[in-house]
Amino acid sequence: MDQLKRQAAAKALEQVRDGMKLGLGTGSTAKHFVDLLGEKVAAGLRVVGVPTSEATRAQAEACGIPLTTLDDIDRLDITIDGADEMDPALNLIKGGGGALLREKIVAAASDRMIVIADDSKWVDVLGRFPLPIEVIPFGLTATRRAISDAFAQSGVSGQMVVRKGKDGHVFVTDGGHWIIDAHLGRIADAPRLAGLLSLIPGVVEHGLFIGLGSTAILAGAQGIRVVERR
Ligand code: A5P
Repeated sequence: MDQLKRQAAAKALEQVRDGMKLGLGTGSTAKHFVDLLGEKVAAGLRVVGVPTSEATRAQAEACGIPLTTLDDIDRLDITIDGADEMDPALNLIKGGGGALLREKIVAAASDRMIVIADDSKWVDVLGRFPLPIEVIPFGLTATRRAISDAFAQSGVSGQMVVRKGKDGHVFVTDGGHWIIDAHLGRIADAPRLAGLLSLIPGVVEHGLFIGLGSTAILAGAQGIRVVERR
């Protein structure tokens, strides 16, 4: 599996040109990309990156990749990131690693988003992977109720679990928020649910990435498949 992730990352690297401004994703697949990009930078490639998490920042710095922020540049050329699930419209579920907020801000500030993954992430309908919803701890019960209403309006239901870290304590994101993982099974209308969740005041962001993915690079046992958003 790790080899497949690296192959997808290597294929994405072929799209990177000298002088590009890049969004650097988070997770085990994006980690391969940062690693390979670091090798190119060491060999003379000039790029600048905006990391989507503190973990990616630390890795990119260790690899010698020059970094900047969205406050210091205009647009990014490409963001390269992983995903927890993607469907044929290239809508995504992201946030399994907890970095969805910065990932979405960075992807939205990019001309293109290349999603890299092993082909197990490809699904017909999103929702088997629990949907991460980043929330403010204040008023959590009211926020959960509003999220339940949004689920009902978009025809889904399922258990909501506040994410815990490996230490058993509540997982806290880079932005200081909590994450609710919603076990929905099947999200028939992801754009509708995304819109409804975005209206809830206590929801900072959610892991449905609608219309952001431009290209998917999927590595599988049969080789690499590149899918462009139609
Ligand atoms: C991080 O918050 C996530 O959005 C990741 O991009 C996603 O979970 C994919 O991670 P892996 O590449 O580790 O599967």
